[in-house]
Amino acid sequence: MFPLVIASVVVLAGVYVLLVETLFKSSQCKSSTGMSGKTVIITGGNTGIGKATATELARRGARVILACRNRQKADEAIEDIKRETGSCDVVYMQLDLASLQNIRNFAQTFLKTESRLDVLINNAGLVADGRTEDGFGIEFGVNHLGHFLLTCLLLDRLKEAPEARVVTLSSMAHRWGRIDFDRLAAHKDLGTGLYSWQFFHAYCNSKLCNTLFTHELAKRLKGTNVTCYSVHPGVVKTELSRHVSLWQMVIVDPISRLLFLDPKTGAQTTLHCVLQEGIEPLSGRYFTCCAPQEVAAHCKDDAVAKKLWDVSEMLCGLA
Ligand SMILES: NC(=O)c1ccc[n+]([C@@H]2O[C@H](COP(=O)([O-])OP(=O)(O)OC[C@H]3O[C@@H](n4cnc5c(N)ncnc54)[C@H](OP(=O)(O)O)[C@@H]3O)[C@@H](O)[C@H]2O)c1
Ligand SMILES: *[C@@H]1O[C@H](CO)[C@@H](O)[C@H](O)[C@H]1NC(C)=O
Repeated sequence: MFPLVIASVVVLAGVYVLLVETLFKSSQCKSSTGMSGKTVIITGGNTGIGKATATELARRGARVILACRNRQKADEAIEDIKRETGSCDVVYMQLDLASLQNIRNFAQTFLKTESRLDVLINNAGLVADGRTEDGFGIEFGVNHLGHFLLTCLLLDRLKEAPEARVVTLSSMAHRWGRIDFDRLAAHKDLGTGLYSWQFFHAYCNSKLCNTLFTHELAKRLKGTNVTCYSVHPGVVKTELSRHVSLWQMVIVDPISRLLFLDPKTGAQTTLHCVLQEGIEPLSGRYFTCCAPQEVAAHCKDDAVAKKLWDVSEMLCGLA
């Protein structure tokens, strides 16, 4: 009996260490770059990874614009960030990525009232069911298309900065994604439309879009002083799972308490891509644990990335 207990403990400890070293591995942004005089937009900066990222950039002296859909939540986050960092340069600008018109309004207001933009962080994201105002599947619409339009509308201002960066939150889930252009044309969505698993599948597809978008954007930015990166932040305890079903919660919750990273740790790879000097030659790449990582061939397919760009332009009326 006793050896059996010992063996079980050893196996469990082994599994725990293995998980902590792989799926739940953490890292630290080591850059000491200051941000004073620079302006950052971060979408969905009112909670989770975005709030932790905004906090660190405010601490380093950036003017931080929280582009969020809910004024009250944003104001509460701004109070927290100001209290924690002593910064008084954190402001709210209303942005709902589930509405193309709202994104256009945001960009118009920003371009009229702010003279520079150094960093755009496409951080907002969700796992949910439903449609955007324009009828797109909500995950495709918010996670990809909204950020696509936002980036396009702000690109000229980014190009005017001495050097600028676009950091887009993807996920390791991108590797299970597929881009079905026929489905997108017919249903304004990449999801499969079947039971609760579809949330997750549509999420993976939208996160693959984030990676492909960054791949294509880097090519289009050659010869400018703007670079771009996509990020897997780690597996982080945030509000991202707020829309999943109760039974999924029952499984996820205990594991998340035990193993998931806290938002501050989850912000490190985004911060690395914003702050680290000398990574410009890696523009277009996918980062995790503060380092570039190879992605599968279909996640950096030139033809698919270009087609996704063209289709996205058409879908948001830019073409
Ligand atoms: N957590 C993880 O383990 C994990 C892993 C891989 C990738 N990621 C990615 O990391 C990013 C941040 O996620 P998180 O984990 O910090 O999740 P979170 O705590 O749920 O935060 C998501 C943020 O996105 C905002 N948002 C959602 N829909 C929006 C819309 N239509 N317009 C504007 N903002 C909107 C939310 O605003 P409200 O508060 O108003 O809803 C919230 O501020 C996401 O892109 C996610 O895909 C997370
Ligand atoms: C990029 O920055 C360098 C040095 O800061 C500058 O000389 C150059 O003109 C910039 N290039 C563009 C396309 O703005």
